[in-house]
Amino acid sequence: MGEVYVYHDLFGYILQMSPDLLEFLSAFGTGARVEDVCKEYANAFGENTPESFVGTFIQFGCLITPGYDQLKDIWDMIPVKSRWNVWVRGDDGNVTLYTAWGDRAGQAHALSAEETKIWDAINGEMGLETLAEWFGKDAVGALVKRLVHHDVQALKLSALAMSYYKSRQHMRPPYITSTMPYAPYEAGAPIPPGPDALFSTDGYYEHEVEDADAQFDHEETTLSHLLRRPHVALHGKTYGAALIEGLGKRFELGTGPFKVLEIGGGLGWVAKAVTEALQALGGPVTYHILELSPALARAQRENTKGLPVTVFEGDALKADFPGDDYDLVISNEMVGDLTAVKVTHEQLGMGGEQGIDDAKFDAGLEAMGEAGALVKKHNVPIGDAPDPFFLNVGAWRLVERIWDALRPGGLAIVTEFGEVGRYPILSSQLDHPELSTHFGHLTIVAMSVGFKPKFEYIIDMVSLDRDKKGLATTRSYFRALTQALADKGVTLEKIGYTEEMFSELIGAAGLVANENLGSIEFDRIEDRLMGLVPHEFKALLLAKPLPTLEA
Ligand SMILES: C[S@@+](CC[C@H](N)C(=O)[O-])C[C@H]1O[C@@H](n2cnc3c(N)ncnc32)[C@H](O)[C@@H]1O
Repeated sequence: MGEVYVYHDLFGYILQMSPDLLEFLSAFGTGARVEDVCKEYANAFGENTPESFVGTFIQFGCLITPGYDQLKDIWDMIPVKSRWNVWVRGDDGNVTLYTAWGDRAGQAHALSAEETKIWDAINGEMGLETLAEWFGKDAVGALVKRLVHHDVQALKLSALAMSYYKSRQHMRPPYITSTMPYAPYEAGAPIPPGPDALFSTDGYYEHEVEDADAQFDHEETTLSHLLRRPHVALHGKTYGAALIEGLGKRFELGTGPFKVLEIGGGLGWVAKAVTEALQALGGPVTYHILELSPALARAQRENTKGLPVTVFEGDALKADFPGDDYDLVISNEMVGDLTAVKVTHEQLGMGGEQGIDDAKFDAGLEAMGEAGALVKKHNVPIGDAPDPFFLNVGAWRLVERIWDALRPGGLAIVTEFGEVGRYPILSSQLDHPELSTHFGHLTIVAMSVGFKPKFEYIIDMVSLDRDKKGLATTRSYFRALTQALADKGVTLEKIGYTEEMFSELIGAAGLVANENLGSIEFDRIEDRLMGLVPHEFKALLLAKPLPTLEA
């Protein structure tokens, strides 16, 4: 996403960099003089002198005297096991660590019996000095070098014991629990495009999705994908079925016939479940999907075979909708993919001492083109915006289009991750930038269009059982765990495993969480399920009123 970090292979420090700072660090090579390099970069960092960065680089072991053996510096440190380690303990008692950082191939790192003893002794409290007394300096030093290295990232070195941070979590340096799953970057190489270049994500789906299943299993996972099969946390229902049940509790759905449009259908599992749930209510169902990605459209056709589902290919913001007079329009976890614009205070004459400069504001909106026109048309309040800020204009336009597609009395549901009062923030979990949705703005646009909007938490809509615990993963951790389990003949799927489901899965191979397979974390399902945070997902329910007598 255009950010650059340095990972220290011996301590595990993570330093956020800018590309020019990294170039400066790299200029030291294997033995340049500090004075010479600083002279060369004298005016490179605005108000900061290059010398001020040298101090930080020395402090974090990124600059050393030529020939100095940095291993000398580790013995006062305390080794700490990283978060998101995947390990398996074999029948011989030896531990194998598994890694699959970012897009790098999965690797197994087998520890010998001696190394396993050192690994087992590491508890985040004891210093390396003590471990060296027990196991020998050479063995401990070699293991630290191997396991802290960015290929493994199983250990970090800390100046303080973990017990110190027990009641001071906020003081714990972030590198201890963070990982670096990103692609390698060499100083001076072209900078990967930052998110700004990608704000219009038009085209991402159209061109880049090649393997539809892999898209949802690895690149991005939606809540509906994790809950696509009947799930205990949904009282035995699928996500799609639970959504219809939730709508039925809030609105009179009747018994059909039902004419439905889904915008952006993923693999088609929502379409399948919703169609079946509506059929169960009585009437015949006509279900249209409008989908941008040809690969996903193919998957949708395949996965809804035999059902009254027709898939149309096109862009939800540009193509004609395949029909009109819909009873129900569904846009599930897709508006985050639509165009957003980035705006600065400067552009709109905001943030000055006298508040907003009205003339500048109007001229700024004018210059913004369609986005500015929409702010004006729907009176979207942006006086409280941070600088810079984003506007989900694609989602606004979609809401306008949905109004035209619905019959009077019809209903739409738009879900996405976001908050009522929070300006869109960038999620960097995925392989493409995705912004959260400002539901307050979306609600205002919906009201301005004529809807009666209702804001809901998805977990309430689908009656998620909040007492259940779910498996917590990150993308790299999930890949590493998949490999560890595959070596044991177990297939890990991208579904929302509860504690019980996961125990049953691994139990078949004689594995017990955190006994001979680790580290396994379970979290309250509303706070985390696999890599998602379910309580961040919201829904806007949009009812299109029936015409009144006066109208
Ligand atoms: C994150 S997925 C969600 C899929 C599905 N609704 C679900 O809940 O699993 C976003 C979906 O919207 C589609 N999509 C993205 N932009 C689109 C656009 N402009 N027009 C139509 N579909 C789009 C994607 O191809 C994908 O199927």
